[in-house]
Amino acid sequence: MPADVAIGIHDLSVATSHYVLPHQTLAAQNGSAVDKYHRGIGQHSMSVPAIDEDIVTMAAEAAAPIVARHGVERIRTIAFATETSVDQAKAAGIHVHSLLDLPSATRIVELKQACYGGTAALQFAMGLVRRDSSQQVLVIASDVSKYDLDSPGEATQGAAAVAMLVSAEPALVRLEDPSGLFAADVMDFWRPNYRSTALVDGYASIAAYLQAVEGVWKDYTKQGGRALDEFSAFCYHQPFTKMAHKAHRHLLQQCGHDAEEDEVTRAVEHTTAYNAVMGNSYTASMYVGLADLLDNADDLSDQAIGFFSYGAGSVAEFFAGTVVPGYQSHLRRETHRAAISRRRNIDYARYREIHEHSFPVDGGDHPLPRETVGPYRLAGLSGHKRIYTPQ
Ligand code: HMG
Repeated sequence: MPADVAIGIHDLSVATSHYVLPHQTLAAQNGSAVDKYHRGIGQHSMSVPAIDEDIVTMAAEAAAPIVARHGVERIRTIAFATETSVDQAKAAGIHVHSLLDLPSATRIVELKQACYGGTAALQFAMGLVRRDSSQQVLVIASDVSKYDLDSPGEATQGAAAVAMLVSAEPALVRLEDPSGLFAADVMDFWRPNYRSTALVDGYASIAAYLQAVEGVWKDYTKQGGRALDEFSAFCYHQPFTKMAHKAHRHLLQQCGHDAEEDEVTRAVEHTTAYNAVMGNSYTASMYVGLADLLDNADDLSDQAIGFFSYGAGSVAEFFAGTVVPGYQSHLRRETHRAAISRRRNIDYARYREIHEHSFPVDGGDHPLPRETVGPYRLAGLSGHKRIYTPQ
């Protein structure tokens, strides 16, 4: 394949959960000032999956419109990133493959490294398309962020899935080769196999994230990457949207800039609106920010965007992309807005019940009551198997 063939994101689709818990409700319950959430961490509400939803149903909902628009002929790989996997062995992407009726000649794999997994999947996809530019890769990032009730992390929960079609001559964003990389062995956030909620050292995790910003930028510069002033916008991983502000302020300071608040806001402002109402979606979060930017900013044709992907533990990567002229006619703005506004407000008592819910582990037949109105649902468990169906 000629070295100058562009590869990148050809289509991008976001889905989220059936319910939403406003931070107003959480604040009224725990006695916090709501401004701590709205202004302090930059979060207004968080998506909460119904009992009959999970990473697979959200992923299938995100991917279905991509398959409908582009067909299945060229998709030979599904790379599914998640850190809230539903099985220790079987890739969640196999359930999506089945729900979407994709051809049997498909390679399917699940990838994990906390929130960085989505970027690992994207880089894997880029390599496959570079090897054979006639192929397309369906990259899916889907997660449900869950912390203990009444813990500081509770306000930074959320849920969403992003599906991206990676191909040659992409319609949305051409991705560039130089990547800045950074890894460090830190216990800032983790989830042992026996827990359904994450453990986190909140302030240490913010410090580890900022250290990674420094690390990737140093390496990106060494790899011959772009200069800071070449970028029009920056998509940061957003565990809460104020983190994007903290991160960009830190990057500017590292580069010897004054880090004026206006400059920070200008760089990230169009990437935070979806995340502010969906909450942390781990692997999907940075790409939810990209969807927001493409959907809602003024024309970005030919402009460079910086991507900072962080996965606790930790691994981080910085890379750049250029927005393709004409991209606006390929967006899914209305569907994204509808997915956000379709969510039903949940009261605190029901949210708590869902949070504490766990599935029986006896291998019996356990059909689930119908809650979600999304296109796919988890119909129940039977013989230790999860049964997924279209609505
Ligand atoms: P906390 O103790 O609830 O909150 O923890 P706080 O007291 O630090 O307040 C938060 C901010 O609100 C502060 O602003 C306060 O000043 C402000 P800052 O000093 O940071 O600029 N504040 C107010 N502002 C206006 N009006 C008020 C008011 N009151 C306070 N009345 C924390 C917050 C984020 C630590 C907690 O929610 C947490 O532990 N979250 C989970 C961890 C996390 O998100 N870490 C981020 C980096 S790690 C990461 O991104 C990886 C991750 O996505 C996982 C993965 O990779 O898989 C998490």
